Amino acid sequence: SDGRVERIASTIRVIPDFPKPGILFQDITTLLLDPQAFRDTTDLFVERYKDKGITVVAGVEARGFIFGPPIALAIGAKFVPIRKPKKLPGEVISEEYSLEYGTDKIEMHVGAVQPNDRVVIVDDLIATGGTLSAAAKLIERVGAEVVECACVIELPELKGRDKLGNRPVFVLVQAEESA
Ligand code: PRP
Ligand code: MG
Repeated sequence: SDGRVERIASTIRVIPDFPKPGILFQDITTLLLDPQAFRDTTDLFVERYKDKGITVVAGVEARGFIFGPPIALAIGAKFVPIRKPKKLPGEVISEEYSLEYGTDKIEMHVGAVQPNDRVVIVDDLIATGGTLSAAAKLIERVGAEVVECACVIELPELKGRDKLGNRPVFVLVQAEESA
């Protein structure tokens, strides 16, 4: 490798027992404080997706709103926000999902994604995979294709990829297994 992934990994801060005891929180706000690491993160995704006919980058609130838009701008794709409940003003479709801690729902505007769209879903982290699989279901319910799910970090021991089934998942950094 050219060292970019290692540099990115080194900027992610790990905070034990947040937001609950036993959770080892992967904090990407420290990555954002390192402009080269933030640049490298978006560049690695842009290099991967720029020639794949991607028409939509969908970002999952909140942290998918940080990494998704710079990727969308660089590859000339639309950006579609997938939001927490009751935030989007237009007609929405919604999916419930269970999180590493708790359950939640996400929503997407009807009409934002069209059946012929080729979509990359972006988020900071895949833990149980609940969030990304709910986002993928929203995209597929309107007839569009989820080309790939893209994350900065994966917690491999939670086996979130299993929840995504056949949908490809691309991640930059594998978090260390917790003890
Ligand atoms: C976090 C993270 C991912 C999700 C991963 O979001 O940003 O979106 O959990 O967990 P999963 O794979 O088990 O679904 P969260 O909803 O906690 O908060 P956020 O609004 O800060 O992104
Ligand atoms: Mg999130």
